[in-house]
Amino acid sequence: MAEAPTSPYEAFMTDPEAEAALLASENPQPVHYQKAALGIDEVAPGFVVLRKMADIQALTRSRDVLQFGGQGQGGMAGGGGLGLGGHHVAIPLELDGAEHTKWRKILDPVFAPKKMAPLEPRIRERSAALIDRFIDRHEVDAYEEWCEPLPSGVFLSIMGIPESELAHFLGFKNVILPSGAPGAPMPTLEERDAAFTDCETWFAAEFDRREKSGNYGEDVIGWLMQVDVDGRRITRDELHGICNLLMIAGLDTVAASLACILAHLARHPDRRRTILASPDIWPSAIEEIFRFESPVTQGYRHATKDIELPSGTMKAGTNAVLWWSAANVDGEAFDDPLEVRLDRQPNPHIGFASGWHRCLGSHLARMELRAALDVWHSRIPDYDIPEGVELRYSANPRAPHTLPLTW
Ligand code: HEM
Repeated sequence: MAEAPTSPYEAFMTDPEAEAALLASENPQPVHYQKAALGIDEVAPGFVVLRKMADIQALTRSRDVLQFGGQGQGGMAGGGGLGLGGHHVAIPLELDGAEHTKWRKILDPVFAPKKMAPLEPRIRERSAALIDRFIDRHEVDAYEEWCEPLPSGVFLSIMGIPESELAHFLGFKNVILPSGAPGAPMPTLEERDAAFTDCETWFAAEFDRREKSGNYGEDVIGWLMQVDVDGRRITRDELHGICNLLMIAGLDTVAASLACILAHLARHPDRRRTILASPDIWPSAIEEIFRFESPVTQGYRHATKDIELPSGTMKAGTNAVLWWSAANVDGEAFDDPLEVRLDRQPNPHIGFASGWHRCLGSHLARMELRAALDVWHSRIPDYDIPEGVELRYSANPRAPHTLPLTW
């Protein structure tokens, strides 16, 4: 077992239990922790940090709130002017009010449960095929060879992007959401700019190709190019804003979640054995480990009016960092929040956020997690992190980007 972390920042990077305890605590440490996690020296005046479930629920359901940190705003998302939509507005993440609702109505059906369910056999097949490549080796960097390529490949095929582009798009994603590994440099604004330009160039050529052939395809790109929005087709600008965001969300978050859950089960063999003895609890076990690990840790919002929250008033003009991960260990929302109860019911965690911007891809993500973890454990039920290895987690999304396992 690793030594106890020496600072909040170390806890964040290395020890999920210490991190959860910090987030659940009432002391001011999480403020330092937040500074460290964001890599900024001071929290600017006019910034609040929300950690309570009731506050976050109330804020994310208010209409007097805007997303913060996106295109043209720079700042909190670390984009220096480039949000997750690159040179375009990230649709729907960076929209609010009626415009946001309009786009969610268009996009929700594409990722609805009944659209996602038929993909399960493909996910199981891909999961098994990746495992075939390393099972006889009895060791693997599970992040590199399984957690990352598995959902990324699935997502490319949903979008209608050839598998041969996998390395290309993973390179793009890893610039926009760097691993935060010790010593790894943070991408400069120029590098982010170049990565988005490269991604947008690829998509522009693909849109041209499909338009020219008149064969749009039965995939998400094809669907987006033909769908009716207010009696018109989606513009190129809008297509780029949607595709850039989807590529980042689809390529990174499920990989991070798989890595967090697999690392958790490697560190807690007793929990793994409990699940394997009663596989029916997989769904609730995944939800509970997901609550505790909270791979996507925070979001950002801006109040346009004074907003009454259970803990007090958030003043108009204030920006907020919302800790989904802290709300998920809030003692007022969960009994014994620091205890991992694999059969916890109900489990109203907000690992997929809450309110208007709740995750669009949660049905796909949940199905991928269940199918992939089930296949992994049917092939490799017993595994360990090699002695002496200390996992290091990235900030947001959180994940051990190197996950050595042996069996
Ligand atoms: C386990 C995996 C995932 C996690 C933990 C996750 C988490 C989140 C969170 C916390 C948000 C809210 C962001 C905010 O408001 O600040 C969000 C939004 C979003 N997610 Fe996911 N996500 C996951 C998978 C996916 C996938 C696979 C897709 C691809 C379809 C996706 C697409 C989106 C989109 C488009 C939004 C913006 C929704 C809106 O603004 O209305 N997510 N996700």
